[in-house]
Amino acid sequence: MKLRIGSLELKTPLCLSPLAGYTNLPFRKVVRELGGCGFATTDLVNARSLLENNHRALELVATSPEDRPWAVQLFGAVASEMRDAAKKCEDLGANAVDINMGCPVRKVCKVGGGSAMMNELAKTAELVRGMVAGVKIPVTAKMRLGWDEKNLTAPDLAKALEEAGVAAIFVHGRTREQGFSGLVNLQGIAAVVQAVRQIPVIGNGDVTTPLGAKRMLEETGCSGVSVGRGAFYNPWIFRATARYLETGELIAEPDFEERVRVMSLHLERNIEFFGEERGCVLFRKVIPWYARRFGPASEFKKAAVRISSRMDYEKALCEYREWRKQFLNGQGVLLEKFAPTKLEAVFSGHAPLERSVIPVPQGPVENW
Ligand SMILES: Cc1cc2nc3c(=O)[nH]c(=O)nc-3n(C[C@H](O)[C@H](O)[C@H](O)COP(=O)(O)O)c2cc1C
Repeated sequence: MKLRIGSLELKTPLCLSPLAGYTNLPFRKVVRELGGCGFATTDLVNARSLLENNHRALELVATSPEDRPWAVQLFGAVASEMRDAAKKCEDLGANAVDINMGCPVRKVCKVGGGSAMMNELAKTAELVRGMVAGVKIPVTAKMRLGWDEKNLTAPDLAKALEEAGVAAIFVHGRTREQGFSGLVNLQGIAAVVQAVRQIPVIGNGDVTTPLGAKRMLEETGCSGVSVGRGAFYNPWIFRATARYLETGELIAEPDFEERVRVMSLHLERNIEFFGEERGCVLFRKVIPWYARRFGPASEFKKAAVRISSRMDYEKALCEYREWRKQFLNGQGVLLEKFAPTKLEAVFSGHAPLERSVIPVPQGPVENW
């Protein structure tokens, strides 16, 4: 199954969703090295800050030759700034520009008027037309289903955006009101798929396993799947899902040593990019994601929040390995009763994926 976004032909229909603070270049490099990811987007970048060459914005758009194809996600409401920032992304070598739409009907819902909604749609479409005209690379948009259950505006918005020249729509199957609660509404995504004429719609939300991705593709008719938290929890998800979609085969889950190898690789990529101290400090919030699949890891997580150097990390890991031995059998394998839920069991519907493994984020959820 192939996914095309404008002139880009992607190797797999699997995309990495932007997770502000997480999907930075070091993480994207790790995901690319593991394979299966067809497309990745930066964290959201404020268009004006990018135009002002703000240090933080430039850090967010950093890339490398392995990080391909890649898109920058822009955020902003001033049409000229969005157009100029899109041009800047193109000049920086981005293969696409994504527009963070959060929920465009916010004001409209407050005043509750249909005509106001049309105005807002018209205004959004105009902003998009300006961006599309200003660059040669594809312009895409990422949205939620709408403000709330009663205002599922994504299909109309998607239709208007297609007319304005957008090359693909990414849709998170929840309303803005839902935040990250409840389940993803696959019918809501299907309604967006049906609303557009020919551009691809990429479904997003709660995909943590190859089976979850397949189900989203089958039940919504979407052309691709974008994975956010599931990729942080399990960076191997793209490789496993690409294989599963191609062959129907579920590859074995990575064992403890492979997880540790990739966690350490991720830290190295962080250090390369941010320097040793900042790379390690930023890695404190990353470790618990890996540790979720280690079995008992409380001691490691406690030590992880204090690391400031590679040596601190190695010491914490070494002490953790010793501590963890009490949970292993004679062959060095985690005793069954301490093992985390096998993802295969989740795939086959024999075990629920505990909600706690996919944490609900803090931050400006209304923008995501
Ligand atoms: C910590 C965090 C940061 C996020 N940052 C962004 C962002 O910068 N831009 C955006 O469009 N969505 C953002 N999102 C939303 C995700 O891209 C995605 O739509 C959402 O998490 C649902 O997909 P998932 O269940 O696969 O994580 C963020 C989500 C989380 C959890």
